[in-house]
Amino acid sequence: AADMFEHRALTGCHVVITAGPTREALDPVRYITNQSSGKMGYAIAEAAAEAGARVTLISGPVSLPTPNRVHRIDVISALEMYDATMAVVDAGCDIFIATAAVADYRPAELSEHKIKKADGDLVLTLVKNPDIVATVAAHPQRPFTVGFAAETRDVLTYAQGKLENKRLDMVATNDVSGPNVGFNSDNNALTVIWQGGHKVLPLAAKRQLANQLMELIAIRYKR
Ligand code: CTP
Ligand code: CA
Repeated sequence: AADMFEHRALTGCHVVITAGPTREALDPVRYITNQSSGKMGYAIAEAAAEAGARVTLISGPVSLPTPNRVHRIDVISALEMYDATMAVVDAGCDIFIATAAVADYRPAELSEHKIKKADGDLVLTLVKNPDIVATVAAHPQRPFTVGFAAETRDVLTYAQGKLENKRLDMVATNDVSGPNVGFNSDNNALTVIWQGGHKVLPLAAKRQLANQLMELIAIRYKR
């Protein structure tokens, strides 16, 4: 059938996926985070496992069950996600898919004790986190590397920029400004771009969309 890709097309492939948000601690009880349910990443992990791949899912804090036959590594912060990802990529993998909503910044300092409001106004200095997907794409044993871009405007322009600047093989974009898509929704729509081509995957259940995306990835990866 048109929506079922070649049976077990990813047998023998090691697919690595980041998913969910990261948390950047200020003190023992507070953190900065991003909006992310992890649902799209988990759906992709499930689709890849069903296509026969060995799947490693590097996950920030989400409340989702681990899909069948998926090896899950739990992390909290962006630096932990970076370290876990690099360890897996150093060991070798074939396809890397970055669905995580990584916090772009972390507090410059982590207070050992709870910050007390009696101390007055609080000024935070934030420092940039490393770009995980760009680092993977620059790795000497570079896997086929796919990024995501959730944008609220000029979706394709920004996505094209990410494809080029991060030297990705593919970028899956969604417009998160509209209703019924992205974030906590069970549905999503994606426009997938690569050098010299694109495909629109219309609004569908995330699990169905994940199959379509994995099929596109498998086709481009095997070229
Ligand atoms: N990403 C990553 N590591 C980061 C930040 C982002 O791996 N520190 C990945 C995301 O998982 C996603 C892609 O980069 O696959 C694009 O993330 P996005 O937040 O859209 O882009 P940024 O490069 O962070 O730019 P900005 O947030 O300013 O749009
Ligand atoms: Ca970002």
